[in-house]
Amino acid sequence: MTPNVAWETIGITKHFGGISATNAMLSTCKLKPGDKVLEIGCGTGYTSCMLAKRFNAMVTAVDISGKLLQAARKRAKSQGIYGIRFIRADVCKLPFKSNSFDFVIAESVLSLTDASQAASEIYRVLKGKGTFCDNEVTYIHKPSEEEKRYFATSLGTNVTILLAKEWKHLFRKAGFTRVHAESFKLNTLEDFRSHLAIDGFWKTISGFGMIFEKRFRSTYLNASLLKQWMRFFRFAGYGIYACKKYGRHSKKLR
Ligand SMILES: C[S@@+](CC[C@H](N)C(=O)[O-])C[C@H]1O[C@@H](n2cnc3c(N)ncnc32)[C@H](O)[C@@H]1O
Repeated sequence: MTPNVAWETIGITKHFGGISATNAMLSTCKLKPGDKVLEIGCGTGYTSCMLAKRFNAMVTAVDISGKLLQAARKRAKSQGIYGIRFIRADVCKLPFKSNSFDFVIAESVLSLTDASQAASEIYRVLKGKGTFCDNEVTYIHKPSEEEKRYFATSLGTNVTILLAKEWKHLFRKAGFTRVHAESFKLNTLEDFRSHLAIDGFWKTISGFGMIFEKRFRSTYLNASLLKQWMRFFRFAGYGIYACKKYGRHSKKLR
């Protein structure tokens, strides 16, 4: 089962670092009311709602999953937020004109797709001097090549996990001229607290409880895989990246 299918089925989405990572990331953005913000891979819409409510931004939110977008729309409605444009789209082929947004926000999305193609698309849709703020799964200790291959393929997934300097390189290759990066260790307790705050007690418990169901058990709950996860968590954390597109030096847009 791929991670995308798992998020959709469970109906809960997450990124490492939870709400405090979102706050840390947004504090680097310096958002102003009325800024045009695109959130890619919005999942169940917690951050999109925060962007609209707390920052008065003009928010467009996309996700590849119709089911998760439905959950995001429901969340917005329950908070009395009606201004967010929710659109089903693939981050590798965004349905927007070049130079459209002041900010693009992503939390744990590029890891799950063609990260280079996604970064190029994000660069294209950002206005000159726009900023891409991203939280991605990041190695905080360098694994061996063998371990890297092992983690990227055998955790029931096929994900891009890089060191902070490798993510920076990928963003620069997409055209971003200044990339700031900071990486953090995982704090499982803080992540769990965030889930409770975002999804409430029962949804969190029933979401996580689903890994005991037969269709998830084989992927996520066998002894050797649990051992791999434990090993993985010794190497992995998350990185917060602020990538600037400069008008003057930016690469030619198609
Ligand atoms: C790990 S979840 C994170 C969701 C949300 N950002 C959060 O922090 O809760 C990854 C999200 O990215 C979406 N996604 C994965 N690949 C995508 C793609 N190619 N284009 C758009 N969304 C994608 C998934 O449907 C899922 O909602």
